Amino acid sequence: MIDRIKTLLKEVEELKANNAEELEALRIKYLSKKGEISTLMNDFRNVAADQKREVGQFLNQLKEATQQKINDLKEEFSNSTAVDTDIDLSRTSYPVPLGTRHPISIVKKEICDIFARLGFSIAEGPEIEDDWHVFSSLNFAEDHPARDMQDTFFIQHNPDILLRTHTSSVQTRVMERQQPPVRIICPGRVYRNEAISYRAHCFFHQVEALYVDKDVSFADLKQALLFFAKELFGQDTKIRLRPSYFPFTEPSAEMDISCNLCGGKGCPFCKHTGWVEILGCGMVDPSVLENCGIDSKIYSGYALGMGIERITNLKYQVKDLRMFSENDVRFLKQFESAN
Ligand code: DAH
Repeated sequence: MIDRIKTLLKEVEELKANNAEELEALRIKYLSKKGEISTLMNDFRNVAADQKREVGQFLNQLKEATQQKINDLKEEFSNSTAVDTDIDLSRTSYPVPLGTRHPISIVKKEICDIFARLGFSIAEGPEIEDDWHVFSSLNFAEDHPARDMQDTFFIQHNPDILLRTHTSSVQTRVMERQQPPVRIICPGRVYRNEAISYRAHCFFHQVEALYVDKDVSFADLKQALLFFAKELFGQDTKIRLRPSYFPFTEPSAEMDISCNLCGGKGCPFCKHTGWVEILGCGMVDPSVLENCGIDSKIYSGYALGMGIERITNLKYQVKDLRMFSENDVRFLKQFESAN
């Protein structure tokens, strides 16, 4: 029996396993209930009493050596699998890959930051609004086409409740509860009942600015506009104002900037005019101030509003408006990282 144990001891020393299955097979062969060692243990009962001590020692030695060998193999084998699999458990957890900011958020922040440098603070209002804040307080006549079902989403059964079509509603919200000086910038989402295409969507984003104080003049507006355009599109940017009409401003204007793609020389983007329109603006109509409880004999103000998508298109040449709401990661990850 001692010879058998010695043979096994040698055998065990040279054991090898390449994977978990092979290792398990070895464990079963030597250490299981019906394995080599258990069989020897059973035979041990028949060993003559005077040899029991010596045989017992060898047997114990074999058992321990086998156990040890199996453990060693296991360790060796599990170390090597950590390297073999795709997951590297030894890798540190940083840097964690971050997402990217949405282009609309990037541009919205840029616009707000520029106005913040002029002393404007952010104001927000609800997207579900009423007729007063979106239209009536802002001088929209009863029969103004913007109120039409074709432009505005109304809540069924209550035409007084609607999704705001512009962020100008925040002007009224703020002026109703705050006397001048008012100097606010209002970013937000707006809704219009438009057929969705590459150039129109049923929702988009605007930024509204409003400044009301004593002696605010059109010259102040022009100065703020020029500063804004140069900060956003570069110091070489030129602006021009064209007379326009909005119910809530008098006089009203639209601002063009020199095309930032061709530098004003003319290209398909600016339809070869050298100019692109970016916002509407004007002096707040005195009746709007009065509608909000502000004395128009003491105070005056200017307002301006722009679409963020339009500015983003100018900055990044996004050709299809629908990209902004599709959440396609291939599109989104091209923009500035979120950290
Ligand atoms: N609310 C206008 C729109 O949605 C944009 C606008 C034009 C806002 C002139 C203004 C403004 O504050 O003065 O088209």
